[in-house]
Amino acid sequence: MKVGDRHYRTIWLNDDGWSVDIIDQRWLPHEFRIENLRKVDAVATAIRDMWVRGAPLIGVTAAYGMALQMREDPSDAALDATWEKLHATRPTAINLRWALDEMRRLLHRLPEEERAEAAYRRAAEIADEDVELNRSIGKHGLTLIRQIAASKKPGEPVNILTHCNAGWLATVDYGTATAPIYLATEGDIPVHVYVDETRPRNQGAQLTAWEMAGHGVPHTLIVDNAGGHLMQRGEVDLVIVGTDRTTANGDVCNKIGTYLKALAARDNGIPFYVALPSPTIDWTVADGLKEIPIEERNGDEVSLVWGRTAEGEVTQVRISPEATGAANPAFDVTPARLVTGLITERGIAEASVEGLKALFPERAGHGGKAGLGKTSR
Ligand code: MRU
Repeated sequence: MKVGDRHYRTIWLNDDGWSVDIIDQRWLPHEFRIENLRKVDAVATAIRDMWVRGAPLIGVTAAYGMALQMREDPSDAALDATWEKLHATRPTAINLRWALDEMRRLLHRLPEEERAEAAYRRAAEIADEDVELNRSIGKHGLTLIRQIAASKKPGEPVNILTHCNAGWLATVDYGTATAPIYLATEGDIPVHVYVDETRPRNQGAQLTAWEMAGHGVPHTLIVDNAGGHLMQRGEVDLVIVGTDRTTANGDVCNKIGTYLKALAARDNGIPFYVALPSPTIDWTVADGLKEIPIEERNGDEVSLVWGRTAEGEVTQVRISPEATGAANPAFDVTPARLVTGLITERGIAEASVEGLKALFPERAGHGGKAGLGKTSR
C-alpha cells in the first residue's frame, strides 16, 4: 500500500540482495522508520518486541529469519535451533509455526549447499502468496459490504467496526480485515470505519488509523469501550476483525477485546465477520478456549503508554501508580457460535468444522482432534 506517493510492502529484501528491510512499527504513526535485519537474533527481537506484528507478517519475517541463518550456517543443527528460537518469540499466532514448518520441511530435504538459496526463494514465495491471499479475501469481503450498501439509502456509508490492526501493516500487503475496506473505497462504495484504539498497545489508534488516513478511508477512532454503545444506537452495520489463530471448529483467537465486540454484536444483531488466510487456521486444534496458548506480555505495556509530546518527542508516560502491578493477556478466544462467518481466500465459510471443510476439503481427515468431525459450540 502507499506511504505518501510510494508503494511499500511491510518487508522486503534489501538492495544488498540478502539482508531484510522492515517497517519498524513501534514508531508509527509519528515516525516512518525502516530497520535493516542482518542476523536471525535481530529477527527474533523484531518479532518478540513487535517491530513487526500481525500473524501473517510474523510468519513471513520468521521465514526470512530462517534464510538469514541458512546463509551463515545451513547445518541441520542450525536449522532446528532456528526453528526453536523463532517459534519461541510469540506463542499465539499460528502463522509463525506454519511458516517455520514450511521452511524446515523444505530445507531438511536439501543438501546443505542448496539451503540458503532455497530458503530465500521460499520466503519470497510465502510473502507473495500472502499478498495474493489477501487480495482474494478482499474480493470475497467486498461482496458482503456491497450487499449491506444495497440495503442503505444511496450515498449512506456502510459503518464497519474493526479491532486491533489487521491491516496491510499486519500482513505483507493489503491486510485481511482491511482488504475489503480498501476495495470498497476504490470501488466507490461509501464506507466509514470505527477504529477501536485497542489497548494496551493501541494498534488501532496507532496503526489502523494511520493506514485509513493514508488511503483516504473515512474513519473515526473510538475507545475500546465505545463499541457496544455505538452498536446499540445502530451506528455499526458490520464488524470485521482479523485473527491470530482460528481452530478447525471456527473458534477465533484474536487481539484481547475481540470477544467483547462479538458479544455486543450478537446482542445487537450485527454481523460479526473474521477475515483470515488459510495459514491462520490451526487444523490440529478442536477447542480454542482450552488449547490455544494465550501470550501474556509484560505489564509495562498496560502501565506505560507511548505518544508524541507537543515538542515532537516520541516517548512513554506512566498512567498508573508505580506500585500497581498489571496483567497483560494479549489475545482472547471468540467461540465459533458468535462468529457470523469466516472470510477466507476461497470464499466465506460458516464458522464450524463443516463450514471450513466445505471450503478446504483437502483438510478433511487431517489435523488430529479437530478432524474428528466435532461441530462448533
Ligand atoms: O499483537 P499483534 O499486534 O501482533 O496482534 C495482531 C492481531 O491481533 C491481528 O488482528 C491478527 O494478527 C490478524 S492480522 C491480519
